[in-house]
Amino acid sequence: MRVDRFLSNLPRFNRQQVRLLLAERRVSVDGLAVSDPHHEVREFSRVCVDDEEVQAGKPARYFMLHKPQGCVSATSDPQHPTVLDLLDEMDKDELHIAGRLDFNTTGLMLITNDGQWSRRLTQPTTKLPKIYLVETQEPIGPEYATTFAAGLYFAFEDLTTRPAVLDVVGPTTARLSIVEGRYHQVKRMFGHFNNKVIALHRERMGPLVLDAELAPGQYRALTDEEIRQV
Ligand code: URA
Repeated sequence: MRVDRFLSNLPRFNRQQVRLLLAERRVSVDGLAVSDPHHEVREFSRVCVDDEEVQAGKPARYFMLHKPQGCVSATSDPQHPTVLDLLDEMDKDELHIAGRLDFNTTGLMLITNDGQWSRRLTQPTTKLPKIYLVETQEPIGPEYATTFAAGLYFAFEDLTTRPAVLDVVGPTTARLSIVEGRYHQVKRMFGHFNNKVIALHRERMGPLVLDAELAPGQYRALTDEEIRQV
């Protein structure tokens, strides 16, 4: 396998980082500094980055789950079922959730063992929209969209939320697009208007849309195309 592919298959490096590592001659194969991305890595080659040996990891895994209500976005919980309990997979302790949802929030949940990939999806800097269908107790006023677009101050974190787009689809129903995932963010945004969120469903994260074939509690592996899109 080419050394650039070997390195970018590891969860810790993306392709751009691998190009840089090679250009800076920080990679060695069997003790020899390597800058050629085509350099061949064999099964028993010793590959090092900055003198640290890197192991060919287990293959990256990516799943899309339709999270049902009443389960926790955590890898373990003493009281309640977790989203990982819904997966019939090996070595579940290696998997993590890319973007948690509250206990009663439903919808798209992505689960992987690839940390680089999940960071790209969730970091506010990559500006990938997360789209939620929101149902509220009280009618949604015309002033909400302007306030959400301007950003809301969250005193606890001492930050202003990034501009969000609200598309009102009914008196108490709207689609909200946000690029970050602060703690209870959507509920707190509507809470600013003393309007309680009574149902919340994540439809989309960046390019990935919840598969309509998946009933709540069901999941499937992502396709290669879906993985590449992030
Ligand atoms: N915002 C919330 O308030 N809850 C969620 O589960 C997701 C986003």
